[in-house]
Amino acid sequence: MSITTTDIRSMKGQKKITMVTAYDALMAKIVDSVGIPLILVGDSVGMTYMGLPTTVPVTMEHMLHHTRAVMQGVSNSLVVGDLPFMSYATEEVALMNAGRFLQEGGCHAVKLEGGQEVAGVVRRLVEAGIPVVGHIGLLPQSINQQGGYRIQGKTAQQAQKLVDDAKALEESGAFTVVLEGIPGELAARITGSVGIPTIGIAAGPDCDGQVQVITDLLGMQEDFVPKHAKQYAKLASVIRQSLTQYKADVEEGRFGR
Ligand code: KIV
Repeated sequence: MSITTTDIRSMKGQKKITMVTAYDALMAKIVDSVGIPLILVGDSVGMTYMGLPTTVPVTMEHMLHHTRAVMQGVSNSLVVGDLPFMSYATEEVALMNAGRFLQEGGCHAVKLEGGQEVAGVVRRLVEAGIPVVGHIGLLPQSINQQGGYRIQGKTAQQAQKLVDDAKALEESGAFTVVLEGIPGELAARITGSVGIPTIGIAAGPDCDGQVQVITDLLGMQEDFVPKHAKQYAKLASVIRQSLTQYKADVEEGRFGR
């Protein structure tokens, strides 16, 4: 590993931070090769690669499998493993599962969802030597509680709670915090209120960095494109055209000539 948590912290106010998800060695190798400093093995793997309706059914075993694969492709990026739903329900459970990410998955840090309510868990992990990324705002693992994938922090009270959440995560030792699905002005306010970098997704341009789900960026899923995603390619269409051509070549006897 050449990128460290210290490097990421020191980028705040100096250089915008790029983060993207990866779930396998092939893609991780490409992400690493372009110098993207942060890779997230997101539990979004459940929805992107496993075809599940939400991230809620994703397990530790799924996450460790994908984290190990990603680590085979990485030489420079700092890799963050996403603790899945219920894997950090108590401090002891969190310590065991976060430890498994580093020991069995081989990654460098973990991410978990929540603010002040998980501050104790974050502190416990950091004290044990496990770097932590926080995640506040729209929390996909709490879809059943938040009532859908909705923008969070719209009222003054909710906005203040999110500012306090970010501060609590910083005080507990998180080295970065993801801000998902909140108004851009609120993301800017949080970014100015904490000393650790904020990484936004659907949170406007004023965070210290941005994170995107790789299948959204590359146009690999045609049936759903989130509003915040910018497609830099349309890989699903390229793959379909290539396979159509291959099938035609086989069926018409051209392949292998
Ligand atoms: O799992 C994931 O991909 C995430 C990002 C949306 C931040 O948590």
